[in-house]
Amino acid sequence: MLPDQFLQELKYRSDIEQVVGSYVNLRRRGRTLSGLCPFHSEKSPSFTVYPESQSFYCFGCGAGGDVINFIRRIENLDYMEAIRFLAQRAGMQVPEDAGDDRTARLRQRILEINREAARCFHRTLMSDEGRPGRAYLIGRGLTRDTIVRFGIGYAAEGWDGLYKALREKGYSREELLQAHLISEGRSGGVYDSFRNRAIFPIIDLRGNVIAFGGRNLGEKGPKYLNSSDTPVFKKSRNLFALNFAKNSGRRELILCEGYMDVVSLHQAGFTNAVATLGTALTEEQARLIAQYAGEVLLSYDSDGPGQAATQRATGLLEAAGVRVRVLAIPDAKDPDEFIKKFGAERFQQLIEGSSSATDFAIGKLRQQHDITTAEGKVAFLKQFAVLMAGLPNPIEREVYLSKVCRELEVDKTAVAGQITREQYRRGAKERKKAERELIAPPPRQGGLNREDELLLRQHPREMKAEERLLRYLLRHPDRAEPLRERLPEERMLSESDREIYRVLLERCRTGQSLELTALGEQLPPQAVDRMTGWLLPGAAAVTAEEAEDCLRCLNDYAARMSREQLGQLSGEELRRYIEALNRQKNKQGD
Ligand code: UTP
Ligand code: MN
Repeated sequence: MLPDQFLQELKYRSDIEQVVGSYVNLRRRGRTLSGLCPFHSEKSPSFTVYPESQSFYCFGCGAGGDVINFIRRIENLDYMEAIRFLAQRAGMQVPEDAGDDRTARLRQRILEINREAARCFHRTLMSDEGRPGRAYLIGRGLTRDTIVRFGIGYAAEGWDGLYKALREKGYSREELLQAHLISEGRSGGVYDSFRNRAIFPIIDLRGNVIAFGGRNLGEKGPKYLNSSDTPVFKKSRNLFALNFAKNSGRRELILCEGYMDVVSLHQAGFTNAVATLGTALTEEQARLIAQYAGEVLLSYDSDGPGQAATQRATGLLEAAGVRVRVLAIPDAKDPDEFIKKFGAERFQQLIEGSSSATDFAIGKLRQQHDITTAEGKVAFLKQFAVLMAGLPNPIEREVYLSKVCRELEVDKTAVAGQITREQYRRGAKERKKAERELIAPPPRQGGLNREDELLLRQHPREMKAEERLLRYLLRHPDRAEPLRERLPEERMLSESDREIYRVLLERCRTGQSLELTALGEQLPPQAVDRMTGWLLPGAAAVTAEEAEDCLRCLNDYAARMSREQLGQLSGEELRRYIEALNRQKNKQGD
């Protein structure tokens, strides 16, 4: 276990505002800060940081905790890894005997291996052996500067060049397999995963080389090969070149399909271009984008699949609170080809003329309704009003309203009225939701597993009682002893509640702190989320009386259950049971 002093120091040096601020765009609101939650998709900020208590909480999804819990979630690390991560950031040494964490070490090793491999690939490209690679890249119009900037490399034709080089550096066959740099053949031998390919290193926001994409220079095999997921890489949560694009100084990102599109765009000065890694855009990536950009220019291929992907991506991005504009790329298959054919200036013109996602949507509605008929017009306008009511910007609304009414030759005030009614209806819905959230605690999305969900539906009273008791205990550690005696842990219905109860009781018994940081070491992040919610500045405290009611509720339930099972008890069991019941009665009486 880590010494308290170390943890205190670490927390002191990892100011939550700064740490969270490097992932989330935070706005100050009095004593707190708020922003779009990085853990679920939302359009208005319900993610809150409390500098005073050095904690965060999302009123939308219930994620919460201290700076360590934040890093655990956002970097997908376990407790010790998160500690190391923050320690490294703060320039602190983690005390040695703090449990050797094997996955953390493996991750560290794979990152080293990747960096070494990237160097190898790049060196090869620049050497004699790299001639085919250089010829290919230069043929595609890349300059030396671009090649160096992106660290592009070349994997030679041979079967084990990289394998040998890395073995010599002291990395094991097993480690190289885990890094997905080599593959195992049927006969048990190994060979380099990337052969005769131009290599694009994929670099995360901290500058780690986390994976590779390889463009085939030959005929055999797929056009692109991407690292599969490894302990340091998840395709679905990373974007190619975001490490550069995040520093482009622009509010928008250009999202493309391919590595080459991105590299070409950067070379042409559009340093805000990124791409997904051989898959369709995921919800996680959309959220990642929302952390860095308010707007995305979708620049997918002009073919059928590219257009279908555009629609899907639009939905995901808008759900994440990002505005979308769509770039139609005429007379070229993709941005790379367009730039090569027509130049950067023309691409800039495309950007300026790009249509908004709203234009797109209106265009689609027009196709769905026959606006030459009166009914068609009415149906179209109804849906148009819904669309408009969803637009946050009144000026934008006005522009579309005028345009559409002019085109359809209908009275503007009537349509405007419909939009207002629609907005009102939405407003009422959201107000109700906000009110519900104020009264009831936010949904325990983060903390509720399926089993708990079910329990909550079947036994709402008991489940509430459990949570209340835990809240009470968290604020009144001095009541732990009597509680332990009066409510044995098995009487808690929910496994997760029982776990929290057990840990709290144990820590109270041994006089350890109930601080979230310390609890995070023994409990899963979901449990810490919930407890953070209970400790929020405005959270209502559970009184001793209420706690008493909860206790009764749970004990009554346990007694009821036992009675149902009494029929199945043997004589001896029955006797013991009745004794136990009596003991309990006496205790409750005094
Ligand atoms: P494209 O087939 O559109 O290739 O795939 P591209 O980007 O235009 O590539 P060049 O210009 O021919 O070199 C777009 C993206 O889809 C993924 C890659 O990420 C690629 O950049 N892809 C494509 C694969 O992962 N595997 C493949 O075999 C093909
Ligand atoms: Mn291409």
